[in-house]
Amino acid sequence: MTEDLSELTLASPAKINVFLEVLGKRDDGFHELETVMLRTSLTDQMHFRRTHQADIQLTLAPGSDDRATRGFPLDDANLIIQAAHLLQRSTGCSLGAAIAIRKRIPAEAGLAGGSSNAATTLLALNQLWQLKLSRSDLHALAAELGSDLNFFVEDCRAAVCRGRGEQVQPIPMGPALHVVAARPLDGNATPEIFRHTTLPAVAAQKSVGAMLTALEDSEYEHVQAQTFNRLTAAAIRVNPSMRELMRLMENQFRRPVFMSGSGSTCFCYAGHGDAAKLFVEQMHALGVPFAAAMHC
Ligand code: C5P
Repeated sequence: MTEDLSELTLASPAKINVFLEVLGKRDDGFHELETVMLRTSLTDQMHFRRTHQADIQLTLAPGSDDRATRGFPLDDANLIIQAAHLLQRSTGCSLGAAIAIRKRIPAEAGLAGGSSNAATTLLALNQLWQLKLSRSDLHALAAELGSDLNFFVEDCRAAVCRGRGEQVQPIPMGPALHVVAARPLDGNATPEIFRHTTLPAVAAQKSVGAMLTALEDSEYEHVQAQTFNRLTAAAIRVNPSMRELMRLMENQFRRPVFMSGSGSTCFCYAGHGDAAKLFVEQMHALGVPFAAAMHC
C-alpha cells in the first residue's frame, strides 16, 4: 500500500457451506451454529475511489450479471452503504467513497454475496481512508452488520464458524475442490428458513470433526460423505423450485446434491474443473436460471 492510495480494486468472493448444524435457538432469536465455510472462485469485483465529501455512492459496473442485479439496491438498503456509514460513524472519518461493483453473485442464494461485499467494503475503506483499524476492530464492526461477514474479514480459504456464525476459526484445506452450483428462479429468505427449521432431537450422524479431517486432503469422496446442512429440509418445504432443482441435478449428475447456507443455491462436487464446466453447460441447456462452475 502506498501513502497516497486513493483507489483500490478488490475481489469479493462467494462462500459455500459444506457443513451446517443448528445447535439450538438463543434468547436473542438467533440460532447457535456450527458451520464450515469455503471461499469460492465466484466473485464480484469492487472498485473503491476515495472522495473528499462524505457521501457514499454505489453504482453497478459494466459486466454485471442481470440475474445478480435484479432487485439489487443502490441505496441505504444495501449492506455496502451500511458498512461504509458504520465505519464513518465509529471512527469519525469525514471522507467518502465512490464504489462501483461488477455483480455476479446472486442474492438470496446462501452464497453470502451481500455479506462478502460489505466485508470487502470494511477492508477496502480501512485502507483508503487510512483508518488503521486492526483486524479485530474490523471483526467487531462486521458482527454488527450480520452473521456471515466475519468469515470474509478473516480472509481465509476455509473456516469453522460458530456462535451465530461470527466466530471464525480458519482451518487447513488440501487441493482445490471443484463444484457446480445452481440456483432456481426463487431465492430463499434466511429468517424464513430458520423459522421453519426444527431442531434435531439427536445430533447429525455427520460431524464437523470428520469434515475437517476430510478437508485436510480435499479427498472428494470423503468431503462429499461428510457434507451436511440442517436447513435443507425446511428450505425444500418453503421453496418447491429448489426441490425440483435438486432432483434435476441428482438425476443429471448421479451424485448427491447439497444446499449452501439457507439456500436456494444447490451444489454438487464435480471431481475436476472440466467436469464442472460441462455440468454448467448441461444446466444451462436444461433452462436452469443460474449455474456456475467454481472451485474452493
Ligand atoms: O445475521 P444475518 O443478517 O445473516 O441474519 C439474518 C437472519 O437470519 C437473522 O435475523 C435471523 O432471523 C436468522 N439467523 C438466525 N441464526 C443465525 C443467523 C441468522 O436465526 N445464526
